[in-house]
Amino acid sequence: MEFQDLVRRRGMVRAFRPDAVPEELVRKLLGNAVRAPSAGNLQPWEFIIVRDEETKRRLAQAALGQTFLAEAPVVIATCRNMERNAGRYGDRGREFYSLIDASFATLMILLTARNEGLGACLVGAYRDEEVWRVLGLPEHVRSVGLVGVGWPAEPATKAERIPLAEVVHRERFGQRR
Ligand SMILES: Cc1cc2nc3c(=O)[nH]c(=O)nc-3n(C[C@H](O)[C@H](O)[C@H](O)COP(=O)(O)O)c2cc1C
Repeated sequence: MEFQDLVRRRGMVRAFRPDAVPEELVRKLLGNAVRAPSAGNLQPWEFIIVRDEETKRRLAQAALGQTFLAEAPVVIATCRNMERNAGRYGDRGREFYSLIDASFATLMILLTARNEGLGACLVGAYRDEEVWRVLGLPEHVRSVGLVGVGWPAEPATKAERIPLAEVVHRERFGQRR
């Protein structure tokens, strides 16, 4: 898909057909995810591919009962390994850069999914400790997003955006021209 179309047509998909998503497509999503920029190229991301029905069900439960997550054939949990960039960047790496880097990687997954004709939805509303337990995350690895991926059973959402004029400033905050 042409880049401009891809960006404009990306939108969350929250209903999936039950058909399997081949592993090679998942590899493609993750192969692009790791092309995301990261502070000092330290790449603090970790990804957990979840296909097990019971694990997906528990994740959906931890995500405040967002059942569509369990209906996605694959859930990719994007995580940040906070120790990977703490050595060089200390607390800033641990708390700030790791989150930005893993978020960029997550966006790459969303865009690549759309480009491959897949649907995806990022879920960030979940009870942290429940997700950490379900995924067996060690102390230094924290979840960032749960991305449900599958063949769309509905069109991607067309969520409106706040007009640019309201969010763009010139030279200083609050200055419009
Ligand atoms: C940090 C973050 C957390 C989100 N959490 C959820 C969620 O828990 N459940 C959900 O259905 N959508 C979630 N979303 C998706 C947003 O609702 C969605 O991106 C927004 O409404 C704009 O729609 P669009 O991405 O389809 O353009 C989340 C998005 C972000 C960036």
